[in-house]
Amino acid sequence: MITALRGMKDIIDDGYLYKHIIQTCEDVASKFGYKFIETPKLEETALFIRGVGESSDIVGKEMYRFTDKSGNDVCLRPEGTAGVVRAFIEHKFDRAGGVRKYFYHGSMFRYERPQKGRFREFHQFGIECFGEGSVYEDASVILIGNEILNRLGIKTTLKINSLGDSQSMPKYREKLVDFLKKENELCEDCKRRIKTNPIRVLDCKNEKCQEILKDAPLIIDNLSKESKDDFDKLQDILTKNGISFEVDPKLVRGLDYYSKTAFEFISDEIGSQSAVLGGGRYDKLVEYLNGRPTFGVGFALGVERLMEILSQHESEQKRDGIYLCALNSEYIDKIYNLSIDLRKKFYVEISYEAKSPAKHLKIADNKNIKIFLCIGEEEMKNSEIWYKNLLNKDEKRIKLNELMEVLGE
Ligand code: HAM
Repeated sequence: MITALRGMKDIIDDGYLYKHIIQTCEDVASKFGYKFIETPKLEETALFIRGVGESSDIVGKEMYRFTDKSGNDVCLRPEGTAGVVRAFIEHKFDRAGGVRKYFYHGSMFRYERPQKGRFREFHQFGIECFGEGSVYEDASVILIGNEILNRLGIKTTLKINSLGDSQSMPKYREKLVDFLKKENELCEDCKRRIKTNPIRVLDCKNEKCQEILKDAPLIIDNLSKESKDDFDKLQDILTKNGISFEVDPKLVRGLDYYSKTAFEFISDEIGSQSAVLGGGRYDKLVEYLNGRPTFGVGFALGVERLMEILSQHESEQKRDGIYLCALNSEYIDKIYNLSIDLRKKFYVEISYEAKSPAKHLKIADNKNIKIFLCIGEEEMKNSEIWYKNLLNKDEKRIKLNELMEVLGE
């Protein structure tokens, strides 16, 4: 049988979630004046090398890169910003001046190690605003992300940082490299990054590196006056608009084009803490790609990550009823009698077969049950029952005469 490639998947049963996310994103972005743009999925490799940066993992390790039949070095886009910037310059909008705002959605490709919430082909919804240098637009871009996530009912933590500008960054980089060079205990990746992109060392996940980095100089303590004023203003706007955030001085993002504002919305609902949305300001990118100097700011969100969270919410909302079972066939009478009482008040599924706890739990989970009740030897001896709430994972032994009270809570 031919199957989909590793890290790539079909959107079949949950297509409605995909559409719901995209419609919500489009609705919010268009209220802020963003217009639809579509750019090719295949681009010249040089675009990403120059745009995203050769030292980034995305370009250095993860690109789907090949030579086409005419000998062109091409690659499947690993992200959307560089392509939108290329189109902006190619259509001479950098020369025209003024402010232009675009949104897009579609497949991105990164040859990463697949895991929960991480795919090799995934979809992003993104926005890019050109020609606006005011920090109010940075705030608006964050507000758009916040509004989308709120409308979808997804709880996140917003982390923000400033990466400084062309005045502050070179001086800061020197300071950081001086600090890092003295540290022999850094991991091999970090040692390599001192030469290629020292800023990325700051967000290394290695515990030992994080310990060393506690004393590292921070970008936000080394900002130019302009960057500092903008960062203070951004925090002021967010606070006044009721958006809570954390300043994370080690947030550097995985792409090289950012300056000043960088931000991520983090969720703890897809395994370890994951970014569901990330972005920032990239005032030099148009110039790097040979356009006229033009301000830029935007973000992209991971559609699959949001789908995962929404489908989790759905199955939680659907969870209902009680699954009653026993670990020993001698206790079936006991649970049968109990079921008669419980069914006066609740929907109850009962198993007439003794099975292992794991097998019972699996059945209860498949039936989308909320409360799991089970009697084993220990419980039988003490007139108790093992209670597990499959929604919030609360687990305890309860005296049988207190069961109704607990279930009624
Ligand atoms: P990014 O942080 O690389 O930024 O990706 C944005 C989002 O795409 C992430 O927060 C995550 O939700 C999702 N994502 C990334 N990699 C994967 C993956 N392998 N599987 C599933 N989801 C993934 C960018 O791409 C920038 N272009 C964002 C931007 C736009 N900055 C300014 N404008």
